[in-house]
Amino acid sequence: MAVTQRIGVVGLGAMGSGIAQVAIEAGFDVVGREVADDLARAATERIGHFLTRKVEKGQRSPEERDAALARLSTTTDLGTLGDCDLVIEAVVEELEPKRALFSELEAICRADAVLATNTSALSVTEIAAATRSPERVVGMHFFNPAPLMPLVEVVRAELSSDEAVETALEVVERLGKVPVSCHDTPGFVVNRVLIPLLNDCVRVLDEARVTPESLDAAMTNGAGWPMGPCTLVDLVGIDVHVHASEALYEKLREPRMAPPPRLVAMRNAGLLGRKTGRGFYSYE
Ligand SMILES: NC(=O)c1ccc[n+]([C@@H]2O[C@H](COP(=O)([O-])OP(=O)(O)OC[C@H]3O[C@@H](n4cnc5c(N)ncnc54)[C@H](O)[C@@H]3O)[C@@H](O)[C@H]2O)c1
Repeated sequence: MAVTQRIGVVGLGAMGSGIAQVAIEAGFDVVGREVADDLARAATERIGHFLTRKVEKGQRSPEERDAALARLSTTTDLGTLGDCDLVIEAVVEELEPKRALFSELEAICRADAVLATNTSALSVTEIAAATRSPERVVGMHFFNPAPLMPLVEVVRAELSSDEAVETALEVVERLGKVPVSCHDTPGFVVNRVLIPLLNDCVRVLDEARVTPESLDAAMTNGAGWPMGPCTLVDLVGIDVHVHASEALYEKLREPRMAPPPRLVAMRNAGLLGRKTGRGFYSYE
């Protein structure tokens, strides 16, 4: 197995920039691809800001921050990813753009490069099927925010090779994260369990006529959750949660997977949680 040193990250949004940060901190060379220069610049600045915060908190030396940032480059040209050992895709959560991207990546990247998707709820197998070399495609599902959340689900699609899965597992270890290997099933491990559970929590708000504060107090004090469900959905983003629920419901047809009408109404009203200042709670 070739040693992975150069990682391409496609899409430097919330997840991609977090993944790029984790990788440069762990000593990998990273080339990040965005669709426009200003988006790439904004991502680089965001990463620089988070690393500077770590310096201020005494978690990193200024030299370590500068060395990590020197390992990061960005581009708008996908062709620049041609010499990467591993490419991690973190673009919009829609099947067709991901399939088109993997088909392009296959043509650009070395034959031995592993191609990974960070999808939360799409089928890795369907993404891999857009290529003629599906054996080198795997899922690497990071959690948000990637620099803080330890878990990465390493997803084996129907035709993934052992070697591609092992490469992904090895990289996750070197990133200092906790890998959990699983097969390509809707929601993988955590979202398969967590999404219907959070939907149940939201339904209980109306059924038991409790407030978000009371429900959060119940689950933190009675079930030992580190954070109440309403606080958690606000943090994840109501839109992100509804989108993932809809995707799982479409695949599994289990009623608990369907987003509760209350959440759909909040999404439609723009009450998306922390990121818009209002969700179950107000953050203004
Ligand atoms: N946000 C989460 O909580 C979360 C958690 C785990 C996984 N994910 C998954 O990660 C992926 C990205 O999610 P996100 O929240 O970071 O989205 P985001 O909207 O914050 O970022 C996506 C970025 O990709 C860029 N982009 C789109 N097409 C591109 C292309 N062809 N080449 C390069 N860049 C391109 C966009 O400009 C944008 O900056 C999705 O598949 C999502 O399901 C999200």
